[in-house]
Amino acid sequence: MIIVIDGPAGSGKSSTARRIADRLDIEYLDSGALYRTATLIYLKANRDKETFFRLLGQKKISFYYEDQIFHVTVDGQSVTDEIRTAEVTNAVSEVAALPRVRSFVNNLMREVVLDGVYIAEGRDLGTAVFPDAELKFFMSADLEERARRRLKERKEKDPGLTLKEVKQNIAERDQKDSKRQADPLKKADDAIEIDTTNLTFEQQVDKICLEISTVLKETE
Ligand code: DC
Repeated sequence: MIIVIDGPAGSGKSSTARRIADRLDIEYLDSGALYRTATLIYLKANRDKETFFRLLGQKKISFYYEDQIFHVTVDGQSVTDEIRTAEVTNAVSEVAALPRVRSFVNNLMREVVLDGVYIAEGRDLGTAVFPDAELKFFMSADLEERARRRLKERKEKDPGLTLKEVKQNIAERDQKDSKRQADPLKKADDAIEIDTTNLTFEQQVDKICLEISTVLKETE
């Protein structure tokens, strides 16, 4: 069974999905982390597409969720922190726009969710990857609020970061993610929209958990 949450950067998908996975004891899947991993491989290939696609086919990418963290390894080496650097963040929309990368990541995800109950988050999960998902949510929030949240999240690791920089980065990614040809960020027609601008974290978690618990009960 698969439940999906889509939405723009900083809308709260990731922290919300992780909390829900812990509360309901289900698995969590972070599709953005997989695009970030592909981006890391692209940067290691010095942005040469031929080398990149060769490496992508050869590398063994594994992932698991534990202790609130979505861990990713490439050939057995952890890349969990490296995929969150500014260098990767700045290049990820460009790499995620490549149709070959999208089908690579989609296949990884579709294989893993065959067993168990998953909550997955991303940009196109309800539209392109799991159109038959049992439950779909689309989380949104004002750009200003999303930038504030992202800054709070990143401040410890990157003390020099400013709100202006974060806002600009998010706005650019919004633009690229929703305007790209291949599977753009888009609300699925049957997704439940949750605007989190004026909700506390616990309120948004409660709202989604309630919907999921109802569906889980129905399928028991
Ligand atoms: O959620 P995030 O910021 O870690 O995602 C990183 C990037 O990956 C985001 O800018 C767009 C891309 N992405 C995507 O294109 N499709 C998804 N399903 C998830 C993420």
